[in-house]
Amino acid sequence: MSARTEHARELFAPLGPTYDRYASLLSFGQDPRWRRFLVSRVPAPAERVLDVACGTAAVSIELARAAPARVVTGIDQSSEMLAAGRARVERAGLGGRIELREGRAESLPFADGEFDALTFTYLLRYVDDPAATMRELARVVAPGGTIAMLEFGLPRGLWRPLWELYVRAGLPLAGAAVSPAWRDVGRFLGPSIRNFHAHVSLEELWRAAGIVDVRTRRLSVGGGIVVWGTRA
Ligand SMILES: C[S@@+](CC[C@H](N)C(=O)[O-])C[C@H]1O[C@@H](n2cnc3c(N)ncnc32)[C@H](O)[C@@H]1O
Repeated sequence: MSARTEHARELFAPLGPTYDRYASLLSFGQDPRWRRFLVSRVPAPAERVLDVACGTAAVSIELARAAPARVVTGIDQSSEMLAAGRARVERAGLGGRIELREGRAESLPFADGEFDALTFTYLLRYVDDPAATMRELARVVAPGGTIAMLEFGLPRGLWRPLWELYVRAGLPLAGAAVSPAWRDVGRFLGPSIRNFHAHVSLEELWRAAGIVDVRTRRLSVGGGIVVWGTRA
């Protein structure tokens, strides 16, 4: 296991029970809206949908609610996040249409083209080789299927210094006020987001993985980014 993978596992392991309560804090309450936009990119006729890095199943549930005939498989490498996700799926009464499985995005336990569509959320900052992971995600989607992702973005212009202030001071302080585990998240996120966007061009990465018609929408002054496209 690489240092990056191990760090991601350690970071999320204690968060499962409190993730849903505090995650929106990190996005000023914006991320439910970002998730809804992400899910709206997946056409309703897509019946078999894979949600990668599903965590506590927020996106999986939204995907299932968006189309009554849809069957969603969620996959995540954290058994602790999945445990919280399974409880949430049961509470939502969607146990018959959402299955959550443990696994890694880098090596998906599915056949080529097994899904009509695929979503993933806040994943690429946690993998060693984003290009190889993108190819693996595209592999399991049938040609013509939709792939859509949500990630934190970097606001531009006047919003950027405000964002810097938030991730350098506000977020670490807010995290520390919740628990040591959330303090670690609060310290980690700013540098992780900044570093990721300094090195990765999302649209190029997607096209190199064989995804066409790639489009990007920056949400909430660029604090969130949704990218979507079609498997060639
Ligand atoms: C910030 S959470 C997002 C959870 C959920 N999708 C949401 O919208 O709230 C990121 C998730 O990615 C998972 N993850 C990180 N690296 C992964 C990998 N290589 N394969 C599968 N899951 C991974 C973590 O375990 C964590 O649950």
